[in-house]
Amino acid sequence: MANPVVQAVNVTKTYNRGKPNEVTAVKHASLKIDEGSLVVLKGPSGSGKTTLLSLIGCQTKPTRGEVIIRGKKVSKLPEKFMNQHKRRHIGFIFQHFQLIAGMSVLDNIVLPLIPEGVSPKARNKRADRLLEQFNLAHRRQFKISSLSGGEQQRVAIARALINNAGILLADEPTAHLDSKLTSDLLDYIEQLKQSGHTILITSHDPVIYQNPAVDRVLEMKDGQITS
Ligand SMILES: Nc1ncnc2c1ncn2[C@@H]1O[C@H](COP(=O)(O)OP(=O)(O)OP(=O)(O)O)[C@@H](O)[C@H]1O
Ligand SMILES: [Mg+2]
Repeated sequence: MANPVVQAVNVTKTYNRGKPNEVTAVKHASLKIDEGSLVVLKGPSGSGKTTLLSLIGCQTKPTRGEVIIRGKKVSKLPEKFMNQHKRRHIGFIFQHFQLIAGMSVLDNIVLPLIPEGVSPKARNKRADRLLEQFNLAHRRQFKISSLSGGEQQRVAIARALINNAGILLADEPTAHLDSKLTSDLLDYIEQLKQSGHTILITSHDPVIYQNPAVDRVLEMKDGQITS
């Protein structure tokens, strides 16, 4: 019997509350994602996909409702503990990667391990395994700014995996990729699913949401999950 590892319960997010530019980006959204499943969140631009992913990814707190990750109500935790839970359980791939351009590939990948107090030796060992896996070993000491788009994307995936987090969230991961890189990314995602990761991806891209490896497609419209 599958367990929900990610749950959103009646979650609402309002930006700029009480101001003239107030926007309710997510309205009463509820979802459950089972361990080991691959779920895609699709919907038109502005429908609230990134906001919902950020709520599940503990990047921001809901205005109302609960986000529950591995049984813990993270939305109720003080910031420090929410961040700790996030680092242990969630890997996040941002649409624009959010890598640090002036730092090396290695230093970017090990970054999430520093607040966890992992020793430099252990950090490098884990990073080297991922560098090998994502065919980046020859770029280990290169600055991010000198890499191609596809290489940067692989670094972003490696950084999201360095904590051995079982939950991977990716926001429009193919938005800037050509068809070869999109197909490579799908291969990585399928491998991660096979190794037991639970994955939630936002995407407009039919190549993603029509992929046979996808277990469920959720649709958003005007801040609500409609299917
Ligand atoms: N930080 C913010 N402050 C204020 N409003 C925001 C913020 N982030 C998003 N919004 C607004 O919330 C709504 C939902 O935005 P969101 O980025 O979640 O949509 P999306 O479905 O991811 O869109 P896209 O497909 O274009 O990425 C939009 O109207 C947007 O302008
Ligand atoms: Mg978005």
